[in-house]
Amino acid sequence: MTSVSALEGLKAIVTGGSRGIGLATAVALRSAGAHVLICGRSADALADALGLLRADGRATGLVASARIDVGEPDQAGQLVDAAVAQLGGLDILINNAGIGRFAPLAALSDKDWTETLHTNLSGVFYCCRAAIPVMRAGGQGWIVNVSSLAGQHPFAGGAAYCASKAALNALTESLMQEVRQERIRVSCVLPGSVDTRFGGRVRPEGASWKLSADDVARAIVDLLQHPPRSLPSRIELRPSMPRT
Ligand SMILES: NC(=O)c1ccc[n+]([C@@H]2O[C@H](COP(=O)([O-])OP(=O)(O)OC[C@H]3O[C@@H](n4cnc5c(N)ncnc54)[C@H](OP(=O)(O)O)[C@@H]3O)[C@@H](O)[C@H]2O)c1
Repeated sequence: MTSVSALEGLKAIVTGGSRGIGLATAVALRSAGAHVLICGRSADALADALGLLRADGRATGLVASARIDVGEPDQAGQLVDAAVAQLGGLDILINNAGIGRFAPLAALSDKDWTETLHTNLSGVFYCCRAAIPVMRAGGQGWIVNVSSLAGQHPFAGGAAYCASKAALNALTESLMQEVRQERIRVSCVLPGSVDTRFGGRVRPEGASWKLSADDVARAIVDLLQHPPRSLPSRIELRPSMPRT
């Protein structure tokens, strides 16, 4: 059994780390001893998140933020450069940033379709492509893509979102097979409903049946502590008693 210190001193990026699952993951990674750089588009949200992370007196690692839109290929490169400059390298990439735009397909705008695919799929592609050379140079790495059960259980009104996550699952598995022999592990975490502001919810509903962001963060940090011989490549995480 590996101890929590398996992540001690490792350098991690968490995209979409300014709130929700990403912020909970950044907190959990820091608690496990990692250095963390978070990104998002809103400067205010990043400043609030950075303040929260810095206020955690138990975590001693470096923490930084970068205002980055992962859907822009140049900015994904800048994100990896920021990790190298501010953390000293990159061992872990958590591709968590995502958006949810929900409407019947016949009513779905070009903008909502394009932005969903850009963020949830192309953003992961850009960040992985930028990160892999740095991980190769470091001799190891771990990429965790936050997908969704919606990728394998599509629902009405979710054409763009479900398609983006189904494609993300395929991207993840292809990449996993490409780089595993280079000591770069690639995993997908597929949560069910999580109590966050995702998809424009004004505030968390406080629905007790949902997963919490901390539950997902725990699954991510647990998988990152598997020994080098072990690769949990796909984790499905469900509310134990969903609302019926
Ligand atoms: N909540 C759920 O029920 C649920 C279930 C399954 C899977 N997921 C997945 O979990 C991930 C996180 O969701 P969440 O519930 O934590 O959502 P959230 O609370 O809305 O947080 C999303 C985060 O992503 C950032 N983000 C969005 N677009 C971005 C972009 N283009 N570039 C950089 N950052 C961006 C947001 O910051 P800015 O807006 O400031 O950029 C924010 O930090 C998503 O991939 C989502 O699909 C969520």
